[in-house]
Amino acid sequence: MKHLIDPTDLNKQELEEIIDLGLDIIANREKYAEACKGKKLATLFYEPSTRTRLSFTAAMMELGGNVLGFYDAKNSSVSKGETVADTTKVISCFADIIAMRHFEEGAALVSARNASVPVINAGDGSHAHPTQTLTDLLTIRRELGHIDNITIGFCGDLKFGRTVHSLIKALSMFSGVKVVLIAPEQLRLPDYMKYEVCDVNGIPYTEVETMEEVMPQLDILYMTRVQQERFLDLDEFDRVKDCFVLDPEKLRNAKPEMRILHPLPRVNEITVEVDNDPRAAYFRQVENGKFVRMALILKLLQWSNEGKNTNLIPQGTVHNEFKCRNQRCISNIEPAVESLFRPDNAHEGEWRCVYCESKPIR
Ligand code: CP
Repeated sequence: MKHLIDPTDLNKQELEEIIDLGLDIIANREKYAEACKGKKLATLFYEPSTRTRLSFTAAMMELGGNVLGFYDAKNSSVSKGETVADTTKVISCFADIIAMRHFEEGAALVSARNASVPVINAGDGSHAHPTQTLTDLLTIRRELGHIDNITIGFCGDLKFGRTVHSLIKALSMFSGVKVVLIAPEQLRLPDYMKYEVCDVNGIPYTEVETMEEVMPQLDILYMTRVQQERFLDLDEFDRVKDCFVLDPEKLRNAKPEMRILHPLPRVNEITVEVDNDPRAAYFRQVENGKFVRMALILKLLQWSNEGKNTNLIPQGTVHNEFKCRNQRCISNIEPAVESLFRPDNAHEGEWRCVYCESKPIR
């Protein structure tokens, strides 16, 4: 079965096939109007969403298919204690493909291991958001004409920002990409991203504390929200919540062809005056999300029919040997979920949780 749990579940050719199909759908909408006739998408959303859930819904409707599911797990049997594994087994009886968003890191992986239909990770805690990544890649392609050879600045919450982690992983498959990390010390990119993704794949990155100092270099400025819901300590959130605000003055030295992306929702990190700047691409990005999700649904159904599989458990994984140190990891929340650790790709003798990439408790 072909799933999408992490961007690295797709190789570069598969990523490009999805983006190319998304572009073809944009150019030939009527050609796809019945492409999923008779098929059902289940949207299982345990965490709030506007863009992801509704764009999945719109995508399946535009493909001629149907949608079922829930957007508030409290109104499902989850409130009676049903696990992600059991919920997935049940929904696999009703739907041809599942899109799941969950606040627990690793929930989509647990779902995929128990599904008999393709599972799409629509965001798992602060871990990964691969369909936002597809949206971002299609947007970069449409706005700049290419993805290779770009300098991209990520600004804001790089610690908890799952969209940032997933996009950097996907960009590691392209050539000539340079990354600039713009964040306060408390919100810097996690170490596993720097060592295992950037260093291992040879992506040059620099860390700075203001956007002004790097603005003229950037082809893409990727703004993010500081996410209150991810902080265990709200005093810490108050200290960093207003750390970056993009306004027209800060764009004075930006290239005319630079593009501003944001996964949205925004709070105050981009002033509304910026919306009128032609470089502001974030609402165009939203619409691209629907087209690329149409392409993804079609491709996962096609690849699964052809017998393609996603390797959900990396080589060298050990079962039930360590305990994850991340309290938001599903292996610490659902007792029936076994612990899974894989070898750290950058440090010999170290281990990383397969669900959330945290280190074990030693
Ligand atoms: N970008 C994104 O994931 O938005 P939602 O939380 O509204 O789905």
